[in-house]
Amino acid sequence: MNKLWKTKTSVVNPESESPAPQDLILQVSDLVVSYGSIQVLHGVSLDIRRGELVSICGVNGAGKSTILKSIAGILKPRSGSVCFKNMDVTGKKPEQLHKLGISLVPEGRDIFPTLTVEENLRIGSFGRHEPKRYAEDLEDFFHLFPILKERYHQAGGLLSGGEQQMLAIARGLISHPDLLMMDEPSLGLSPNRVDQIFDLILELKSRGITILLVEQNASRALRIADRTYLFSNGRIEYAGKPDEMGSEVDITSVYLGAKEGGMAS
Ligand SMILES: Nc1ncnc2c1ncn2[C@@H]1O[C@H](COP(=O)(O)OP(=O)(O)O)[C@@H](O)[C@H]1O
Ligand SMILES: [Mg+2]
Repeated sequence: MNKLWKTKTSVVNPESESPAPQDLILQVSDLVVSYGSIQVLHGVSLDIRRGELVSICGVNGAGKSTILKSIAGILKPRSGSVCFKNMDVTGKKPEQLHKLGISLVPEGRDIFPTLTVEENLRIGSFGRHEPKRYAEDLEDFFHLFPILKERYHQAGGLLSGGEQQMLAIARGLISHPDLLMMDEPSLGLSPNRVDQIFDLILELKSRGITILLVEQNASRALRIADRTYLFSNGRIEYAGKPDEMGSEVDITSVYLGAKEGGMAS
């Protein structure tokens, strides 16, 4: 095991306030995004260093999914820029960004229900992966996701909600992304499954994977994140380390609004 994603990146030093440019993997500057005439993001700026786990929290409708979709190229910003690995990638298409190493695990899982687990995974590797490498990786992969080995030849739609979430994360990971973005991976799952998802996120972090996590389960996301951005009405209201947040903002306030635990599934 542990063959996959062994980090060869520089070590993150959370104490360093001004990262060297090569440490920054993503830099979003003053992003403005609209749906038709309705502006949803009002100049959002954020950055992520290699190896960091950064969370985005905020109530429903705050613009969390919109920022992830904009970074992934699904939505085109009106203005502002997205820099990835020191390249300006603003306005690039999702498939180009996937090829460059950005992976999005979308809200609601969004796996292909009629395709098998294997086919779903192969789609995730498309454009980034040599077929030989895919086969080599698979055994390692099954250590992280044992349930997917059991269900490898079954249709994705036959998996439970939690298993589908695992498949969605696995599909996002199989391309060896430089940045893995997850949109509310624990949403709607039973408490046991939520625990599994958070354990998995911690395991991925320990392997050096750079993660941008949007979570409605704010209290748990804050516990595992290196840094957090609090969104409200399409703006960032707070950015910083979770343990320093208490004195600056009321974390039980409108920004989080999330409860411990998930819904039954
Ligand atoms: N396809 C869409 N068309 C129009 N408005 C949208 C669309 N998707 C989201 N919105 C609006 O944009 C705002 C931010 O949505 P979203 O990014 O999904 O928030 P969050 O993920 O934080 O719940 C909300 O007011 C939402 O109603
Ligand atoms: Mg959302």
